[in-house]
Formats: sequence, C-alpha cells, structure tokens
Amino acid sequence: MGEPILSVRELVKHFPVRTGVLFKRTIGQVKAVDGVSFDLQQGETLGVVGESGCGKSTLAQVLMRLEEPTSGSATFQGRDLFQLRGAELRRMRREIQIVLQDPYTSLNPRMTVGDIVGEPFEIHTEVAPKGSRAKKVRELLEVVGLNPEHVNRYPHQFSGGQRQRIGIARALALRPKVIICDEPVSALDVSIQAQVMNLLGELQGEFGLSYVFIAHDLSVVRHLSTRVAVMYLGKIVEIGTEDEIYERPSHPYTQALLSAVPVADPAVRGQRQVIRLEGDVPSPIDPPSGCRFRTRCWKAADICATEVPKLEPRTDGHLSACHFAEVKSVVP
Ligand SMILES: Nc1ncnc2c1ncn2[C@@H]1O[C@H](COP(=O)(O)OP(=O)(O)OP(=O)(O)O)[C@@H](O)[C@H]1O
Ligand code: SF4
Ligand SMILES: [Mg+2]
Repeated sequence: MGEPILSVRELVKHFPVRTGVLFKRTIGQVKAVDGVSFDLQQGETLGVVGESGCGKSTLAQVLMRLEEPTSGSATFQGRDLFQLRGAELRRMRREIQIVLQDPYTSLNPRMTVGDIVGEPFEIHTEVAPKGSRAKKVRELLEVVGLNPEHVNRYPHQFSGGQRQRIGIARALALRPKVIICDEPVSALDVSIQAQVMNLLGELQGEFGLSYVFIAHDLSVVRHLSTRVAVMYLGKIVEIGTEDEIYERPSHPYTQALLSAVPVADPAVRGQRQVIRLEGDVPSPIDPPSGCRFRTRCWKAADICATEVPKLEPRTDGHLSACHFAEVKSVVP
C-alpha cells in the first residue's frame, strides 16, 4: 500500500460541560472522540459505524476543521492537517468535502439548485472563472443524475433522494480528493438509499475519490467499504477489511451489531443468533473504566474494569480492542 491520503493518530475531542449563571464553571467533559487512529488509503472507502452518540459526527467535524481537536494529530497528503493556515487551509477546504445526513436542512431553501451547487465556485473563484460556472453547474447536475434543465428550481421541488444528489453535486464541485459522508442515506427510503449508494460508488471510480463513510448500521456500509471501523463511546473497538469485520469479527460489540443487521432471507434469519445488548450506552461524560463496553458485555471479567484493551492485532491479525477477542461468525 502507498502513502495514506489521510492519517489520523490518537485524535481526541472533548466538549466542556458548563454550568452556573453564565455557564462559566466547567463541571466535566463530554469525551466525544477519545483516541481515534486510522489511515485512509487513496481511492478506498473506510466505513465508520456505531450507535448514536459514539462520536462519528464529531470526528467528521474535526477532520473538516470545523471543530478544533483537543489533542492528537492528522496528516492530509503528508501535511499536518491541524497546522494548515492561509492558502494551504483554503486548498484543504477544497480537497476535503462533506455530505451530510439531512438533505432537507443542509440545503438553503431560498437558493436555486444552480446557486447551491455553484456556491463553492463563488468562494473558490480560482477553480472556475465566472463565465464557465453555469456550464460547470449543469455538468455537475448531470453527473449526479439530475436534469440540468432544473437548475432554476428550489430544493422543495425535489424528492429526498434528489436533494441528496444536489448535496453530492455541491460536494463534487471543487474536485475534492476526500469526501466525508456523514450518514448521507439514513434519512432516505430504503429503495432510494441503494440508488444514492450506487451513485457514490460510481463517482468514486470516476473521480478517484476516497471516502470516510459514516453510518449507524453495518449493513449500509458493507458494499461500498474497503475497510470498516466500529466505534463505541468515542473509541474504535475494531477495524479491518470487509471480510475481517463481516466474516470474522472478534470484538463482542461488532458481533452484537452484526447480529442485529436486518436479513431479508427468512431461512437465514431463522439460523441466526441475535445478541441483545443489555442496558443503554453509558454517558460519554463518565465512561466506564477499563473497557468502555464492559457494562454491556457478556464476556466481561475483572481485567476489563481495570485495563483498557489496546486496539491491536488479535485473532487473524486485524485490530481489535478486546482482552478476550475471539472470532465468532454471526451471520450464517
Ligand atoms: N458541540 C457539542 N457540545 C457538547 N457536546 C457535544 C457537541 N457535539 C457533540 N456532542 C456530544 O458528543 C457526543 C458525540 O456526538 P456525535 O454527534 O459526534 O455522535 P454521532 O455518533 O454522530 O451520533 P449520531 O449517530 O446520533 O449522529 C454526544 O454525547 C454529543 O452529545
Ligand atoms: S475487553 Fe472485556 S468487556 Fe471489553 S469487549 Fe472484551 S471481554 Fe468485553
Ligand atoms: Mg452523527
């Protein structure tokens, strides 16, 4: 493998919890992202999966430089992402784009589709001279499967799936290298989800894009992902190739998530053992000592309360953060 395009090491983002009349007193920290490391290779898709509140969007916001990290480092194309300033920061803002979950709120309802998709050209004027913008916008609409004749329509005149295509066209406008997709299909009907996923797959091949693809559910990211990272309470608990995660998961949390993936075939569904997790996700303000998953883990032992399990090669060699990592095939 060559140099990763994006490399993240021990990334931490804590949000202070404030109280008092003027919210001046800090009484704790929300440990939203708490020591995340991964590499993203050129042209690959890294799926990032975990329950609500485990820190997926915070990770995305920090990598987009929309939130400052508490600590940790990241390099983008070999440069220190968090030190970029001025012209270099502007370039990075072109090269890393984001597609958000909700195509209803992420598009300005008072702007036409043409203005929304062309807006990045107004900010990064060097990418497209003024005279060529209208043509470029029409091309972008075509690339994402929208009718370029609809350039003067408003977001409310489109369906949910079409709106997400508008968001994707806007993200593509500046010819980025990396797109962070933060649950781009979660708000869409299942049939539309597949269409948007296929579009993202085609665009990846066409433009050589690398994706960080965030989702709640392991089934959503399977077909697009080269590798998958499973997050729990601010940490990656297991990361591996598609086969390693879906066929040979070794972390109990991954196994539980996989066992809950919807299966269409009733025969297969009947054979499968569903692992039901007890209790709720603990608060990220005060996560459990040792292994954060221990309060819901059926395998927890004394060591799990005292020693943080390292994310290191276990079982077949892929990284898993469990003292008792053990391959368990969940989906028959
Ligand atoms: N600006 C903020 N200030 C304080 N706490 C925050 C802030 N943003 C996020 N959090 C907290 O950080 C934790 C992680 O939130 P985040 O939105 O990253 O999770 P998520 O995995 O994207 O969840 P979801 O699947 O619901 O989108 C949550 O406990 C959330 O309440
Ligand atoms: S380290 Fe212990 S508590 Fe954590 S997942 Fe493994 S067995 Fe469960
Ligand atoms: Mg989120």
